[in-house]
Amino acid sequence: MQWTENASSCCQLDRLKRLPQCDTKLEPLTFSKSHTVLIDVGVFRCGAGPIPQDGRDLWHKNFVKMPCSPQSTAFSTKLDLKVVHVKGSVQRWKLISKQLTALASKKTASVDEVAEAILTYNPKYKGQWSFDGLSRFVKFVPKAENYFETLFPKIAALALKLPDQVKKAIPLLQRGQAAAITLSQVQISCLLANAFFCTFPHRNTSSPDAEYHSYPTINFTRLFADWSERKKEKLRAIMHYFNVVSDEKTKLTGLVTFERCFLRDTDMPNWRNCKETLQKLHLTSQGSIETEGTGMLQVDFACSLIGGGVLDSGLVQEEILFLMNPELIVSRLFTEKLADNECLIITGSQKFSCYSGYSDRFEWAGPYEDDLERDKWDRLKRQILAIDALHFKHRREQYRMARITRELNKAYCGFKHYHGHHGPDIATGKWGCGAFKGDPQLKAVIQLMAAAKAKRGLAFFTFGDEELKRGLEQIYHLLVTEKTTVGKLYEVLEDYCAVLQEARGTHVDLFEFIRGTIRPSRSLL
Ligand code: AR6
Repeated sequence: MQWTENASSCCQLDRLKRLPQCDTKLEPLTFSKSHTVLIDVGVFRCGAGPIPQDGRDLWHKNFVKMPCSPQSTAFSTKLDLKVVHVKGSVQRWKLISKQLTALASKKTASVDEVAEAILTYNPKYKGQWSFDGLSRFVKFVPKAENYFETLFPKIAALALKLPDQVKKAIPLLQRGQAAAITLSQVQISCLLANAFFCTFPHRNTSSPDAEYHSYPTINFTRLFADWSERKKEKLRAIMHYFNVVSDEKTKLTGLVTFERCFLRDTDMPNWRNCKETLQKLHLTSQGSIETEGTGMLQVDFACSLIGGGVLDSGLVQEEILFLMNPELIVSRLFTEKLADNECLIITGSQKFSCYSGYSDRFEWAGPYEDDLERDKWDRLKRQILAIDALHFKHRREQYRMARITRELNKAYCGFKHYHGHHGPDIATGKWGCGAFKGDPQLKAVIQLMAAAKAKRGLAFFTFGDEELKRGLEQIYHLLVTEKTTVGKLYEVLEDYCAVLQEARGTHVDLFEFIRGTIRPSRSLL
């Protein structure tokens, strides 16, 4: 059969499943050894909303070291009888709360005052940390939309609520352990207000021997430094979030779950033997994962250090996602660097902003009213899957079966994971093909294979790439009509890598290669 545009076997977007239509029998909220819930479950189950769970602080390597922990101390050169508890050693939270209380009591606070407060309890960084980005931001934004100096005191007040809001120790989501944390949106806002005021201890250095060297940064220091147009737009999004969550009229009622999942060696597919054929595919060059893919499992093109450059100058898919949904940023507080067989799934985060443009042309485009339904745990029906592709310095590095298998397992780890029977389908696109320099054809085939193995449909957004859309449409049609199995495709990829090795630098187009291999006699179609 001659392939024609009309004969494409891709489906319409409405044929794919979204969370609201999924029959997920969610058990009542409960905590367990591997699921920490930071709100009182009993009260929540009675319908009285989220109130903080009582607990005690743990200053321990397996838990987040909190700024309000009595064990968090600093060395003081000045003698202040109110804050010094043993000679020279100061409870750091006393220093912090003194500064933040002073700021919170003001009607307005300048960037200089914010900087001075931050440096008082981070004295080591005087002369090192710059607040140039924040200060020029406040100066440059037109008066009419410049509410920032009145916002700083409110963020300080929010940060001060931390000891009342987060009483139970927050476990770290560590490498090699499947575990989850559920917390309220209010708790997240307090934690992020503390990140804004750079209060988290032991989190300001990433040298290889630093305690948290395998964790992303969480204090906002880098975001405030080195002015750039990018930083300006990023700060507009972040400030908007704080403006909403610190407003007394805002009702933040929901919960959010962060779940680290991993693929055991015993669950790793033997890809060569997989008999599954491809699942449904919706393919489009229009729209985006987060908008048209609403309600599906939305792929975050992640960095292994979750959130990537969101608190610095990075501004591509993951960073934009985190800026539009700032609650995602709190994952950086407790998620250790993802290993090759791990992913992070976040359920329930709220979208606060809209944007236009991308990268250097990114602009914050105003507030977003999130009207998604909530599940029985009061989580918004939004699910984000963070998977980090390999970062290739040179394009040719990716055509090795060990690397292709790593990408297959990484995608499968996230795609397969679902509590309950029928999960939503997956919204994805050119995963690993921007900053990480992957080959879009190869990554598309890898994701089709992983989705087939996980038995889930894909909505694939090529983000304006018409050529990829056309090519993938044809290949998908061929693979579906030939009933090509995942195992067969794996073999094709092995042959492809071998051919590229022999071709010594000359590139061979993967889609052409597949056409020539799957149906050699019709390779000119
Ligand atoms: N929807 C669909 N496609 C998109 C969207 C969107 N919203 N945004 C971008 N694309 P990239 P990577 C397309 O570079 O290569 C970050 O710093 C667009 O064509 O973000 O996996 C992370 O923290 C873009 O070129 O993903 C990591 O460190 C392509 O997707 C690193 O970048 C790839 O987007 C990940 O880089």
